[in-house]
Amino acid sequence: MFEALKAKAEAVASRRIEDLFDDNRAEAFSVSVGDMLFDYSKTNIDAETLDMLIGQLEAAKVAERREAMFTGEAINVTEGRAVLHTALRNLDGGAVEVDGQDVMPEVLETLQRMEDFSEAVRTGSFAGQGGKITDVVNIGIGGSDLGPAMGALALRPYHDGPRCHFVSNVDPADIQDVLQACDPATTLVIVASKTFTTAETMANARTAKAWMGETVSDPAAQFAALSSAVDKTSDFGIDPSRVFGFADWVGGRYSMWGPIGLSLMIAIGGDAFRAFLRGGQAMDRHFRQAEWHENMPALLALVGLWHNQVLGHATRAVLPYDNRLARLPAYLQQLEMESNGKRVSMDGKPLPYDSGPVVWGEPGTNGQHAFYQLIHQGTRVIPCEFLVAAQGHEEGLEHQHRMLVANCLAQSEALMKGRDMDVARGLMEKKGLTGDELERQASHRVFEGNRPSTTLAYPKLTPEVFGMIVALYEHRVFVEGAILGINSYDQWGVELGKELATALQPMVDGEQSAAGKDGSTAQLVDFLRKQGV
Ligand code: F6P
Repeated sequence: MFEALKAKAEAVASRRIEDLFDDNRAEAFSVSVGDMLFDYSKTNIDAETLDMLIGQLEAAKVAERREAMFTGEAINVTEGRAVLHTALRNLDGGAVEVDGQDVMPEVLETLQRMEDFSEAVRTGSFAGQGGKITDVVNIGIGGSDLGPAMGALALRPYHDGPRCHFVSNVDPADIQDVLQACDPATTLVIVASKTFTTAETMANARTAKAWMGETVSDPAAQFAALSSAVDKTSDFGIDPSRVFGFADWVGGRYSMWGPIGLSLMIAIGGDAFRAFLRGGQAMDRHFRQAEWHENMPALLALVGLWHNQVLGHATRAVLPYDNRLARLPAYLQQLEMESNGKRVSMDGKPLPYDSGPVVWGEPGTNGQHAFYQLIHQGTRVIPCEFLVAAQGHEEGLEHQHRMLVANCLAQSEALMKGRDMDVARGLMEKKGLTGDELERQASHRVFEGNRPSTTLAYPKLTPEVFGMIVALYEHRVFVEGAILGINSYDQWGVELGKELATALQPMVDGEQSAAGKDGSTAQLVDFLRKQGV
């Protein structure tokens, strides 16, 4: 598959991206949604390639699949579920039916309950046994952690509620470091788990309950639960009035729009949370209505397909020049790699092409002083995805924000243009070098350039813009998955490790011999036992 695209890629491999620019290219290879601009002109995609890529959308019937998703068909075929996180932000949209039943009344009722509880926590009408809630600890992992944790940092300028902390790792260091900074009498613990069975989350929840029980008489009274297994929450002792449920058609990594976003809502308030939802809804409407040539999530996906499956670049770097998006790469690692890291297509047959790429990144400018060396001069091409806001929130420091913007633009320019040997020689000549030494030094200063990047630019990281960004990436994953014929909504690949961890536990605990394990695992168990695990 993708043969014609691969042939095209080969045919244009030697040309330089910068040479593609004429008066129209920047505009023609950019797309806007509201005030948000996605510029993919610094890639080797030309008009013919774009048409060929769009042909992939048509061949894979992505428009039909998109409608199937928005209208509640069970597109998650291996679990027999609809995929309807879009309903969670369908604030003023129409009915959304699953199995003939409109889900919107329940979605909106839960949102209202979340808002009532969040307001009660923020105003103090819901209090801890020692007074007004000062700290909220969200205990969850994966999709029950990454979204709200990313959001709480992204929207820090809007944070006017109690302090929010996020505990995810079963490593006791994580919970210990958080709890020791909190007062149990004024802390609200939110146990966030779609299944309410995830081993790490339940272990941390029990630890938090015991910690709180040392100080207050009724620890469970300061617990809330977010789950689609509401029956299990009462076994943990959490009163149903503080349990916020959601349906199984909300995938864990798509769940921050509903109850899993409660900690974020408590931090920023119901109005700002609704603005975040409105941003997501605006992106949904755009994705559903815009022509493919103007469709931002589709184009983002097609650029990804071109770089990964066609050109064979195995990773992509997500580089937010927006420090408060520091957790976006981690969030996208789950969103993209758990969704599209699959070995078989929908029909169970091995994929005849690469699955989704490795996603990684760090905010700029920090990354520039760390791994950009390899991005600029390493032997592998790493497509880069920059994000940048026109404005920050920091009054009086606008000059620093402008430095940030200049750095972002400089990086994509440097990646594209590079610096050739003649220029490098000139630089060395100016330093007074000659002969072999000049040649040697100059070659270290050559940047091949011609490295692709995209830039997503927006006015300011407001709740609404943040919602648009998250929904943009969600739909990108959908489009890439649809073209690859993957079920983006299951995650069987995480199961084996969980099963083996359960089986290994008695060996690590010293209750069972590890002799039957492979030599390496048995040796490691033995070593760690001897070292006092
Ligand atoms: O193990 C992977 C996973 O199932 C993710 O898909 C999910 O986001 C995470 O674990 C947490 O699951 P839960 O919300 O059920 O605790």
